Amino acid sequence: MDGRESRYEAFLDKLSRERLRRDLTEIVARAARTLEVGGRTYVNLASNDYLALRFHKALIERACAWAKEFGTGSGASRLVTGNLELFGQIERKVAALKNKPAALVMASGFQANAGVLKALFDTAVLGAEPLVFSDRLNHASMHFGCQAAGVRQVRYRHLDVAHLAELLDRHSSRDRPAFILTESVFSMDGDVAPIPEIAQLGREHSAMLVVDDAHATGILGEGGRGLSDGADLVIGTFSKALGSFGAYVACSETMREYLVNRCGALIYSTALPPQVLGAIDAALDLMPSLDGERKRVADLGAHFRSKAQELGYDTAGSATQIVPVVAGTADAALRLGEDLREAGFWATAIRPPTVPQGTSRVRCVFTAAHTPEDVNGLLDALSESARRLADAAST
Ligand SMILES: Cc1ncc(COP(=O)(O)O)c(C=O)c1O
Repeated sequence: MDGRESRYEAFLDKLSRERLRRDLTEIVARAARTLEVGGRTYVNLASNDYLALRFHKALIERACAWAKEFGTGSGASRLVTGNLELFGQIERKVAALKNKPAALVMASGFQANAGVLKALFDTAVLGAEPLVFSDRLNHASMHFGCQAAGVRQVRYRHLDVAHLAELLDRHSSRDRPAFILTESVFSMDGDVAPIPEIAQLGREHSAMLVVDDAHATGILGEGGRGLSDGADLVIGTFSKALGSFGAYVACSETMREYLVNRCGALIYSTALPPQVLGAIDAALDLMPSLDGERKRVADLGAHFRSKAQELGYDTAGSATQIVPVVAGTADAALRLGEDLREAGFWATAIRPPTVPQGTSRVRCVFTAAHTPEDVNGLLDALSESARRLADAAST
């Protein structure tokens, strides 16, 4: 090699030394409950397919039917000729689900956060630099959107409404439009933001509240509506509880029109293909009928959480289907993940920079495909891992 890549190589070597290097593991998934790696089957605790819809007959059938009828691609961006009338049908369903006047379908949650926030914080449009208050643990895609807009965020302590209020009081200025950004359910902690209180603060300070409802849409809230009531603008995805791919923005008619005219991620990207739209459409139709599944998933999460805590594990602030088992160092999280794998459970170790230093964890996710026996087996594996650690410490 002539050295043009040596700096990248050095970076990768450093990650390896720090136990922070990532790699892409090839898996085979033919069902929602399990996955196969290297010929072995594991219980899959690492998928966000909370309602196990990605293998649901209704989604697969409508995806196939729409591909057969409308082709495998949309052909162009939505502003050119890719705006199939199927989008309008889906957007009306999303607006109804989210109780908002309008909705806009976009290509992915990452793209929506990156593109919508950039458009929202456009200084040329606002006439002043925006003031953006963000929960410290917001998802990377939200930071990406802020960075793209050139915004320096004012970060408040995770879920700390009093700190947000203090920062709003300290920084608010009549000349600068204010925004508050938060997730509803935090992806790596499984805890829940107090959206009604944050919305109240937003109203008091004339700050627009933007909520990323990715991990609540479909699985939490009445009829799977999510937990974003009170937000001015909601961003969410169809890639998690809705079992396929793509994202939505739910908002006012004005904001929808603005995004159609100013959001580069929508304007310059090919529209989602018909088969994906078919899966989304079928998942939205199923939403009202899935209360039983939602309750079952919540119960599995609650049972696991309380028993894991009894075993002495730290589950952070989890109150949902996402339950982290916080191990501390990256190495400890990787070792815990390996112990679980040995016992037949696939849960991913999450390390910095995805989570703060010292809080590396194994993220366990429960879905409608899991059984109480799966949860008990996982608890046995955790207990065995704790015993091994204690044995190692005492020798
Ligand atoms: C909170 C949050 N927002 C956005 C995204 C991105 O969504 P998508 O996977 O549809 O790109 C994710 C998922 O990874 C997420 O956890």
